[in-house]
Amino acid sequence: MILQNKFYLILQATLFIAAVFCKKQPQGKLLQIVEIFRHGARYRIDNSSYTDNNQINYGQLTAQGQRMHFILGKTLYDRYSIPLNIPKTYNHTFIYVKSTNYDRTIMSAASQLAGIFPLQYGQKIFNVSDQFLIPPFQNVSKINETLFALEGGFQPIPIHVRDHKDEKQLLGYMDSCSKAPEWESENYKSQEWIRIQKEYQDIIDALIEDEYFGLKNDANLFDISNLVDTLISEKWFGDEEKNKEISEHVDGFLLSQEQLVLPENFNRMWVQMNLIYTSVLHLTLYKTPQQKKTSVTPFFTELLNYFNNYINDKEYYRWIMLSAHDTTIAMISQGMNFTSWECLEKVKLQKNIPSNCIYTYPGFSSNIIFELYQDKNNEHFIKVLYNGTEQNICGSSKKYCYLKEFNQAVKYSTVSDYDLECGNYNNDNQILGLTQSKQQKIETKNQIVLSCLVILLLILLITSLIFNYLQRRKILTLSLNQQQRVDYSTI
Ligand SMILES: *[C@@H]1O[C@H](CO)[C@@H](O)[C@H](O)[C@H]1NC(C)=O
Ligand SMILES: *[C@@H]1O[C@H](CO)[C@@H](O)[C@H](O)[C@H]1NC(C)=O
Ligand SMILES: *[C@@H]1O[C@H](CO)[C@@H](O)[C@H](O)[C@H]1NC(C)=O
Ligand SMILES: *[C@@H]1O[C@H](CO)[C@@H](O)[C@H](O)[C@H]1NC(C)=O
Ligand SMILES: *[C@@H]1O[C@H](CO)[C@@H](O)[C@H](O)[C@H]1NC(C)=O
Ligand SMILES: *[C@@H]1O[C@H](CO)[C@@H](O)[C@H](O)[C@H]1NC(C)=O
Ligand SMILES: *[C@@H]1O[C@H](CO)[C@@H](O)[C@H](O)[C@H]1NC(C)=O
Repeated sequence: MILQNKFYLILQATLFIAAVFCKKQPQGKLLQIVEIFRHGARYRIDNSSYTDNNQINYGQLTAQGQRMHFILGKTLYDRYSIPLNIPKTYNHTFIYVKSTNYDRTIMSAASQLAGIFPLQYGQKIFNVSDQFLIPPFQNVSKINETLFALEGGFQPIPIHVRDHKDEKQLLGYMDSCSKAPEWESENYKSQEWIRIQKEYQDIIDALIEDEYFGLKNDANLFDISNLVDTLISEKWFGDEEKNKEISEHVDGFLLSQEQLVLPENFNRMWVQMNLIYTSVLHLTLYKTPQQKKTSVTPFFTELLNYFNNYINDKEYYRWIMLSAHDTTIAMISQGMNFTSWECLEKVKLQKNIPSNCIYTYPGFSSNIIFELYQDKNNEHFIKVLYNGTEQNICGSSKKYCYLKEFNQAVKYSTVSDYDLECGNYNNDNQILGLTQSKQQKIETKNQIVLSCLVILLLILLITSLIFNYLQRRKILTLSLNQQQRVDYSTI
């Protein structure tokens, strides 16, 4: 009896542990990843303050930025080459790459792809006569390569882009939303903006006072945010002398990314300035529930499409690569409940800070990866990594979420009609464009019908004329026949 009890106890304990263990992390096969990243280090984009000798190539990716993405590509190759079965040679069914229409994001994607699909693995040319290889031109150049199509086995990979106003998925907070500018200017006038500006007034004043930065006397949160953006570009340009000079004006400027998040550094000026930068981004683009939900709706819609298309065998991409901006990373972060301006303010005030609150700004090459898995029962679940670290998702402390549950969670974080919320239907934009082209089609149809009618009428008229003529002629002929005998020459 006792033995039996013990047996049951052990059995129960084992089952309990097994249950806990299984619940903790479902086992699954990785099907697909959707990767979104910010471009790498770039030249400054703003010159409203802080003059230096490096004011060139505004907004372009730097060599350092290229390297960052090249290394990220290699890193992701190492992580995913086995689970995703990454081909050494680029294959159009494996990956789909899209970028926003900016030089720096397109070049970042190209740099990362170079890390995933390296030299020496490009397509080869086998035994083909020269006549099939030479372009139509006079005195074509000679090359050394005989094996690879391109020298060094380079792999060209397509990167898709759209006009800003059509790029709802990655720039849903911008040109594709007619009401976005209106919402933004409302935010600058809001109580919250004014209150938060007050909370940072000491730092703002200190920065205005230091003539090194060249700020206007009435500089506001927005001006400081631009300055921070410029200083970040400077820092990542990596000139040690210059960075040391700046650090004499900004306490904590030389801190590493890891040091930035340590509590003991929280009151350093640079950490506070970074907090301003992140807060301004959210207070501008993702302040009201309407902005928060609307901006991220097209992204989530596309994300679920990628998953569903793969699951339903409609598309075979195992990797979707999306190259975008800090604002895009912030948009998705707030949509996933990783952060918000509300929690950033609590961090600033050091009061009631929620456990889930990413308060660091989305620096160069920040990245979010959605992983889609299939478990033993053919159920699908996802995991989400921010800079390579798994995040809690679906409003729980779990690091995974079943797709059904995720669908539901997304519903609460989005709107049902993006274009309606954005006021796109009654403005001069692509929706109207769509109606216009529809209208044109209808008009064309009408024209065709009209032309047909006219032609038909004409034919009827001509036929009737001919008939009439023939009838008359018949009569005429008859009468003529009679006359002919009299005067043949009158016809
Ligand atoms: C900065 O100033 C230069 C020179 O005036 C100008 O060409 C450039 O467009 C400006 N860049 C930005 C981002 O304002
Ligand atoms: C492309 O890769 C897939 C696997 O991702 C493979 O099934 C297919 O055969 C490959 N196609 C070519 C043309 O290599
Ligand atoms: C290459 O072409 C040559 C001449 O056309 C032929 O003799 C040879 O068998 C071909 N080699 C291969 C591997 O096809
Ligand atoms: C091709 O090269 C030859 C020799 O260098 C030169 O004489 C000729 O003008 C060139 N033809 C053209 C069309 O450039
Ligand atoms: C071709 O090879 C020669 C000799 O190795 C080298 O000097 C030349 O730079 C190469 N040309 C190209 C275009 O790589
Ligand atoms: C991700 O990396 C970027 C670039 O180093 C950094 O600025 C950002 O704080 C990181 N975010 C998180 C949540 O790790
Ligand atoms: C974010 O949090 C809200 C409120 O708790 C919840 O309704 C929503 O589903 C969450 N969104 C996601 C994507 O987890």
